Amino acid sequence: MWAIAAADFGADLELVEVPEPVAGPNEMKVRLFAASVNPFDRKVVNGMLRESAPHRFPLVPGTDGAGEVEGSGERIFGTFFHRPVGGGTYAEYVTVPVTNALAPIPEGLDPVVAAALPTAGMTALQLVEALGDARSVLIVGATGGVGSFTVQIARAAGKRVVPVGRGDALVEADALVDLVSTDRSSFEANARYAPLAFTTNYVSADQSQNFGMKGSRESLLRLASLVQAGDLEVPIGRRVPLRGATDVFAGHSRGKTVIIM
Ligand SMILES: NC(=O)c1ccc[n+]([C@@H]2O[C@H](COP(=O)([O-])OP(=O)(O)OC[C@H]3O[C@@H](n4cnc5c(N)ncnc54)[C@H](OP(=O)(O)O)[C@@H]3O)[C@@H](O)[C@H]2O)c1
Repeated sequence: MWAIAAADFGADLELVEVPEPVAGPNEMKVRLFAASVNPFDRKVVNGMLRESAPHRFPLVPGTDGAGEVEGSGERIFGTFFHRPVGGGTYAEYVTVPVTNALAPIPEGLDPVVAAALPTAGMTALQLVEALGDARSVLIVGATGGVGSFTVQIARAAGKRVVPVGRGDALVEADALVDLVSTDRSSFEANARYAPLAFTTNYVSADQSQNFGMKGSRESLLRLASLVQAGDLEVPIGRRVPLRGATDVFAGHSRGKTVIIM
């Protein structure tokens, strides 16, 4: 099968031909329709997990996707991350433990849209839940994948949203979601504007501020129903065929980049 992969940590992505994966016990093999790109994928290629998980090479990145289960024909979407790391969704086929956060693609939902939802959408949904009763929220990094979902879901929850883009001044609010800071001091500077603050980049000394998304089938189903009800717009900034997807880490488009198999 064809896949996009890195030969080593930090290497450029290349189009490669590799054997189709074989499902082990309690795994499914899925023929992918589409995969979406998340910053986590680049971090994995750069070796973020090299101390904590086994990897295999060529390293195929990608956690999010939508596809059809071999054998049953069920159409599913969700997070396909599993160990060893390197058998990801930037490929025609993937295997995935049946216990992963996966859900059926509802009738009428475009699989490309479904593939764009999992990581960014579940993070946004759960971030807004974590905001509790906060009536106003600053969202730093509002134009990206997580940010564009968080803005919409927070507004739908009745919150006053202040999207903060590059160069925008911060103002005081009840809560702050920082999707951008990659060091403690810049997060702490932003967190001064709100009594409740979260970072998705784990840069706070206060563990309660380090927000981690937990994948769940319920969150996926909720996202799909929000989209189908017209209450959540999925901002797909770029659609790229698998064979041309070697540059998906270069530059940045607004919203989500989706690789189409
Ligand atoms: N902890 C978790 O569970 C979890 C889950 C999901 C994501 N994350 C992390 O959260 C971060 C955001 O994810 P994402 O998917 O939203 O990434 P993304 O799609 O790359 O979006 C990041 C956005 O931030 C903007 N930005 C960059 N620097 C900025 C600045 N100084 N001020 C304001 N905006 C700025 C970018 O705009 P430009 O286009 O101008 O660069 C981009 O639109 C990533 O680091 C990701 O790894 C963590």
